[in-house]
Amino acid sequence: MLERFLTGASTYSQSVDHLIFLIAVIVGFWLIVAEAFFFWLMFRFRQQPGRATQYITGEEKELHRWISVPHMLVILCDIVIIVGAVMVWMNIKQNLPPAEQTVRIYGQQWAWSFVDPGPDGMLDTGDDIRTVGELHVKVNTTYHFELMSRDVLHSFCVPAFRLKQDAVPGRTIRGWFRATRPGTYDIQCTQMCGMGHGLMAGRVIVETPEQHAQWLARTANPAFAAQPAGSPSAPSATPGAQLAEVRP
Ligand code: CUA
Repeated sequence: MLERFLTGASTYSQSVDHLIFLIAVIVGFWLIVAEAFFFWLMFRFRQQPGRATQYITGEEKELHRWISVPHMLVILCDIVIIVGAVMVWMNIKQNLPPAEQTVRIYGQQWAWSFVDPGPDGMLDTGDDIRTVGELHVKVNTTYHFELMSRDVLHSFCVPAFRLKQDAVPGRTIRGWFRATRPGTYDIQCTQMCGMGHGLMAGRVIVETPEQHAQWLARTANPAFAAQPAGSPSAPSATPGAQLAEVRP
């Protein structure tokens, strides 16, 4: 249903939408019931000539029920929401499906930068590709990300993936996503992180395997093309040159 307003482009975007819908239905139902009842009471017991105001202490048993019965109903609804939320949380945050690819994400005031493992598929090797503001991923591939902050709290959010994860200085937080639809999607920072917070955006570009291979061929440092994967003697990449290349 939320798809009509915001594309869902990851394997778990639907389950987040269902949870939001469940909460909206439960809360919306009780909002309407409570407001309708409230206005009915105001109308029914409005000031009328010759009718004295009752003095109610609220100590009688049948008056207590006006509190205890709705209270029980609220708890019941809470349990339904908590069960749904825990199931979604377990699926997205607790259970990490095996990674087919791992990328690194850095938040800093005020940009997102990324490290792609490059043609050899391994991080911390000479052919890693560093980008700023753009994350290139393959469709239908399970990615793990290692999320870090270089300064303050940030939050890595891709609304189309229904993905949001805080970046905490001093910690490496691992998470996952699996994009289901090629396209370009927004990345936003969703944690107040200073003057440039509102400008801390980026794009995740979900590509078909062919497009991704083309991007790798275009972007990978040719100096490493002949190097064996993970060769320790590989010269260090020149991130500056690559950053300039990929800047929009
Ligand atoms: Cu980074 Cu807000």
